[in-house]
Amino acid sequence: MVLIRGLKWADMNQLVDNYYSYYDEVRSETPELGLVFYHSKPAFEYEVEWFSNIFKGVISGDVIGMVAEEDGKAIGFCDVHRVMPGYEVSHIGSLGIAIRKEYRGRGIGKMLMKKTIEQCKGNFEMLILGVFTGNQKAISLYEDMGFIEYGILHNAIKRGNKYFDEKRMYLTL
Ligand SMILES: CC(C)(COP(=O)(O)OP(=O)(O)OC[C@H]1O[C@@H](n2cnc3c(N)ncnc32)[C@H](O)[C@@H]1OP(=O)(O)O)[C@@H](O)C(=O)NCCC(=O)NCCS
Repeated sequence: MVLIRGLKWADMNQLVDNYYSYYDEVRSETPELGLVFYHSKPAFEYEVEWFSNIFKGVISGDVIGMVAEEDGKAIGFCDVHRVMPGYEVSHIGSLGIAIRKEYRGRGIGKMLMKKTIEQCKGNFEMLILGVFTGNQKAISLYEDMGFIEYGILHNAIKRGNKYFDEKRMYLTL
């Protein structure tokens, strides 16, 4: 049974483990994995900082962080960050989502996204995201949620010596 819920402080270790699993995945199985990575896997202390900043944002109202949980394990995360809090673009939130590989294709991403978008209503007026143009699964999901393309940035991501194009999409809430 999958539970979609808000982020908890206790999620840190599992979310960092998930994040590291995407580094292993892109290196060994899916070189075209549609997430944007650092050049090398960040050390645990940087992950602690990443998580602390997200949690701080949740408390200040600048981040919506939603977790998909199964059997007590956080298996997916969707976060929306206010774009430049305090500036004239702060009505816009930037969305990211990832589900751990073993749990994909079971409708969890869709559930997680629906709930996250619900939570964003009243907090943000518009959501934006970037998706690899080859990531058809994610694109279909975003279109299903009502996201509309507003452009493509060619060669937006450089992974080793390979470039990927990024489709930019928005959703008015
Ligand atoms: C993209 C991702 C979040 C989707 O989560 P998921 O749990 O695998 O997706 P779901 O099972 O909920 O499927 C949601 C929708 O995706 C689309 N979809 C799923 N499998 C698909 C496939 N093989 N081909 C095309 N579309 C597909 C469908 O629109 C589906 O909705 P439907 O079942 O009502 O038709 C997940 O696959 C993931 O984490 N991928 C790796 C990281 C990533 O690419 N993140 C997005 C960065 S922009």
